[in-house]
Amino acid sequence: MERSLTMEVVRVTEAAAIASAKWMGRGLKEEADDAATTAMRALFDTIPMHGTVVIGEGEMDEAPMLYIGEELGLRNGGPQVDIAVDPLEGTNIVAKGTNGAMTVLAIADRGNLLNAPDMYMEKLAVGPEAAGKVDITASVTENLHAVAKAKNKEISDVVAVLLDRPRHQQIVEEIRAAGARIKFIQDGDVSAAINTAFDETGIDIMFGTGGAPEGVISAVALKCLGGDFQAKLIPEDEDQVLRCEKMGINVNKVLYLDDLVKGDDAIFAATAVTDSELMKGVQYKGAYCLTNSLVMRAKTGTVRFVEGRHNIEKKPDYVK
Ligand code: FBP
Repeated sequence: MERSLTMEVVRVTEAAAIASAKWMGRGLKEEADDAATTAMRALFDTIPMHGTVVIGEGEMDEAPMLYIGEELGLRNGGPQVDIAVDPLEGTNIVAKGTNGAMTVLAIADRGNLLNAPDMYMEKLAVGPEAAGKVDITASVTENLHAVAKAKNKEISDVVAVLLDRPRHQQIVEEIRAAGARIKFIQDGDVSAAINTAFDETGIDIMFGTGGAPEGVISAVALKCLGGDFQAKLIPEDEDQVLRCEKMGINVNKVLYLDDLVKGDDAIFAATAVTDSELMKGVQYKGAYCLTNSLVMRAKTGTVRFVEGRHNIEKKPDYVK
């Protein structure tokens, strides 16, 4: 993939964040998601590439835009890429005006992103120091000790992050019995997975079950950051098992980082809609607004925090 795509895609997440931030705290999650999706779609079509959505807003008959299989980009001979999008990761977060919502996307060479169906996925994420030291098939306790050793910490100083859901009760008990600490989040496990790779967030490891599409996007982020992300699909019924089989995915197989994101090149971009541990959300300042984005490339390992100042009057209508 061309290096220049890195800066092109951040324009896409910026536009989506500006469009959806207007809905912050208004209790209207669908409107916030639609605004992000519309802006993201429009911006994608300005990029010199030929992309196909492999993770998107659903199948063609359920989603008017950014549906799985939709082709995006200028399509004039640029690179052929797979696209994974979550136009608004944390729709409830924006509706409630709480922390941790982002607009996110990932791209990779055609065929390199797992086409994960929309179902639950068990996830394990760690940053670079613990990469290669954890294993989703090992117990929670073993993984906590592996992280403590890798980061040269006492177990009581290890902080695990997980979605606050009743389905995680057993993991919660095991973390507490091991003597580690927990940070619960209400939504937004892509942001949580990324936080494991940044010391300043105070988060060491992410456990628990969340959306599979978000899992593939998180895997791209952790590949760029030199961390690790491992997963298992959790089909809830026979239909979901059949769906996986049709897509050529063995539901019993552990999905390691290279199964989720093949090859050594992929690009990840995210713009904060509301504040998070790493970035400030969209801020309106009169005729301008400010954005903070994270954009990274696996091939080079370059991680950039990009601050944008946008003149709202000069933006197209779908962003305003
Ligand atoms: P949405 O942005 O689609 O609302 O997803 C938010 C999210 O919290 C994800 O980050 C997470 O993977 C998933 O939902 C968890 O699903 P559930 O709310 O069903 O536990």
